Amino acid sequence: LAPVVTIDGPSGTGKGTLANLLARKLDWHYLDSGALYRAVAWTALRDGLALEEREEESLGELARTLNIRFEPAAEGPVRVYIDGQEVTQELRSGPISEGASVVAAMQPVRDGLLELQRSFRRPPGLVADGRDMGTVVFPEAPAKIFLTATAEERARRRYEQLRAHETDVTLERITQELRQRDERDAHRNVAPLRASEGAYIIDTTNISIDAVLAEALERVRR
Ligand code: CDP
Repeated sequence: LAPVVTIDGPSGTGKGTLANLLARKLDWHYLDSGALYRAVAWTALRDGLALEEREEESLGELARTLNIRFEPAAEGPVRVYIDGQEVTQELRSGPISEGASVVAAMQPVRDGLLELQRSFRRPPGLVADGRDMGTVVFPEAPAKIFLTATAEERARRRYEQLRAHETDVTLERITQELRQRDERDAHRNVAPLRASEGAYIIDTTNISIDAVLAEALERVRR
């Protein structure tokens, strides 16, 4: 089986940035599992499916049959296509972030995405980014990293990110949305966010991305 390094943590800790850089540096595959939950929400909304408990079986089926494709770009974020349509930017919107967090609390959706997530583990290796990569999807991963940062810093980073594409975004709204999503992700019954046993914890509040990358590389090369 190919090696895998898991990178988990809440929103805005720099998981995506770190996972991307690490995958490039090692020349390994990259799994953005959050994009899969976002894709389930996006497809459900496209198909007029309510993001409610009464639809959980249908949402689970949708997750199991998701037709998603990732295309690494020379620079910038990986492009995402659903049923052939590019959705890269749309997946980052506020409503889709919220919807992703709602469907992520449903067991049938999590089960439906399991096989797809594990299929990303191919030689020469995989960098897997998410909330439960180390606890549920790849519990036997040889290297596990968990990122943290203060809520203020996480909101500030998310704000900077979104400001590049949206005009009506405010720090206040982002802080509010982040708090709500953190709350739901931490307290849901299925796969609540927590560091996996044996995970190496890095607080990214006051350190540069290069320093985080150096620490992560050291864990992987051990
Ligand atoms: O980038 P950010 O951390 O804001 O979001 P994301 O990683 O794209 O994840 C979006 C939502 O999907 C999160 O709020 C979680 O509810 C859910 N998620 C999850 O439950 N498990 C994962 N492995 C990844 C994401």
